[in-house]
Amino acid sequence: MSADQHIETLEGTFEYELEGIYYMEQELVSALDEMAMAATNDHLQNGFSTHREETEGHVERVERAFDAYGVEPRQRDDPVVDALEKDRQQFEGMVRDADLKNLYFLGAAMKTERIEITSYDSVLTVADKLHLDDDVTDPLESNREEEKRTLKKLEGMSSASEMKSLWDRLTGG
Ligand SMILES: [Fe+2]
Ligand SMILES: [Fe+2]
Repeated sequence: MSADQHIETLEGTFEYELEGIYYMEQELVSALDEMAMAATNDHLQNGFSTHREETEGHVERVERAFDAYGVEPRQRDDPVVDALEKDRQQFEGMVRDADLKNLYFLGAAMKTERIEITSYDSVLTVADKLHLDDDVTDPLESNREEEKRTLKKLEGMSSASEMKSLWDRLTGG
């Protein structure tokens, strides 16, 4: 779908949302790869690597949803995803300290998961109004569940012992 096309229906809105999600999941595979390499905290590194693999599965599930809906998988540019990427590059360019970068990555990852969860909420609400088949919605629901689990893990990490030495160093504790 391109920006000069008109969307006049709920179906068109569903496709627009799904195309954005397809773009987002593909972009996140490389973003998670880059963050896994740039993070110096083991827990973060492992978490990003694991979620990168899960995200490859998200891309496949979105393709299954397209298939079940009966259209070719298509992606559209999503400025929200591009902005997340731009912000990360900007921060990385401004900061040298590895722990400050780790903390930033943790926050950026939580922000991203929240955006993903909300995107799936929106597309599933539209799918529900359209009474779309489970074949279309199940893969999207599975992705949303995995994003929620990932967000929980990240939230746990930011307060738990995994990050303690890092906070201690940065706060002089
Ligand atoms: Fe995802
Ligand atoms: Fe995710």
